[in-house]
Amino acid sequence: SEFTLNICCMGAGYVGGPTMAVIALKCPQIRVCVVDLSQKQIDAWNSDSLPIYEPGLPEVVSECRGRNLFFSTDIDGEIKRADIIFISVNTPTKTMGIGAGRAANIKNCELCARKIAEVSDSGKIVVEKSTVPVRTAQAVRRVLECNDKGLKFQVLSNPEFLAEGTAMEDLKAPDRVLIGGVQDEDGIKAAETLVSVYANWVPREQILTTNLWSSELSKLVANAFLAQRVSSINSISALCEATGADVNEISRAVGIDQRIGRRFLNSSIGFGGSCFQKDILNLVYLCETYGLHECAEYWNQVIVMNDYQKKRFTEKMVSSMFNTVTGKKIAILGYAFKKDTGDVRETPSMFVVRDLVLEQAKIHVFDPQVKREDMWIEMDYTCGMTEKTHPGLDKAVTTSPDAYSACDGAHAFAVLTEWDEFKTLDFERIYKGMAKPAFVFDGRNILDHAKLREIGFEVHAIGKPDPNKFSDL
Ligand code: NAI
Repeated sequence: SEFTLNICCMGAGYVGGPTMAVIALKCPQIRVCVVDLSQKQIDAWNSDSLPIYEPGLPEVVSECRGRNLFFSTDIDGEIKRADIIFISVNTPTKTMGIGAGRAANIKNCELCARKIAEVSDSGKIVVEKSTVPVRTAQAVRRVLECNDKGLKFQVLSNPEFLAEGTAMEDLKAPDRVLIGGVQDEDGIKAAETLVSVYANWVPREQILTTNLWSSELSKLVANAFLAQRVSSINSISALCEATGADVNEISRAVGIDQRIGRRFLNSSIGFGGSCFQKDILNLVYLCETYGLHECAEYWNQVIVMNDYQKKRFTEKMVSSMFNTVTGKKIAILGYAFKKDTGDVRETPSMFVVRDLVLEQAKIHVFDPQVKREDMWIEMDYTCGMTEKTHPGLDKAVTTSPDAYSACDGAHAFAVLTEWDEFKTLDFERIYKGMAKPAFVFDGRNILDHAKLREIGFEVHAIGKPDPNKFSDL
């Protein structure tokens, strides 16, 4: 064929899709095919409305699709044809059994390995792209070795560091690419093959090679450190609200120290997304498994603080609004776990909405990218709440076509996702349409609070001094 290398990626989700699209873009000589069990998912990748929202993704897919980028459910055929197979399937927290609520379920990874062993008729390089517990490659390798065809497989770990919302930029110019492999001749050769793929666009010095276990564990550690920064600054936001200090001023004063760094120091209602909590729980579980209870407890506090921050926010909403939101319309601006994505997995908005619904508020949600159907799937999966378990739930939450209708007649609006478009809303218009006093709860500190107060709003923000409480600012 005209291609020098065949890559197959198992799992056409938030990671598999964008990652393979960028490989195809940067390596026109390589044939890349993304496969998935879900026909619906593959059909969407082959259509004009992709299954995920990611800025810059549609352009790359339309350039490469049909040229050297393909999406298919022919898993067996694509495995057979591939030289390199990425495993990029979901590895969610276990919901039952041993380690329930903490351990990552690597069932999907093992199933992929079994499938590869079953259908391959030549040896391959198998790459763990999914985030997995350290030493998963050992399990993958053993499953692969159990083929009865005498085939030799090489297992590499190549965790993905992209962030949703900026995935395309992250993939095109990654801080680093990490490749872990067995430190013997064949392992090093396999790692070299994968290095040569990334070297088409990533400078060599940014491609790190390590042993397998360092690579697997680095991904968990990177997410733990990132989430820890969020929880650290959020813990300080609570102290700011109690003392009249301003968390933004603190972030600036502290982050200017180059040892600390400015980035990722914004306080908020807390982190969400499919990875941070899952990966820290995974790390905590690993520590416990090895008897390192102090280490487990240390990292677990990152989650404890995050839960506290979400809860604190809802409680503040209720207490500010005269200790009752029963029957009150409340607008929720933003439901995605961060801007520039439609992903709602573990989104902090969901926990605020859940708690407000339990207080019998009437919730009106506006998010530019989130589908109502996805809200309910996640509410069921993570909170165990459905119309069946909580009759009236469906009616208690309205999804609005825009921010203005969400806020019309509301007692409060809360900004829970930092979408840029929320900064430039016509707040005079919104104020006129709201019940008085009109409350604003800025869960991302993105609005101009002084201006909102001038209009007449009562503004509450995260870690910002409340002028009604402190006269000595
Ligand atoms: P996802 O849920 O969006 O996609 C996973 C896909 O794998 C689904 O479409 C599912 O149908 C498919 N799948 C499951 N089992 C399969 C099998 N046996 N054969 C073929 N397809 C199968 O998951 P996402 O977000 O892409 O995450 C994948 C992995 O990457 C996870 O381990 C995650 O922790 C990690 N990761 C995720 C990041 C993110 O921002 N979402 C960033 C970095 C890593």
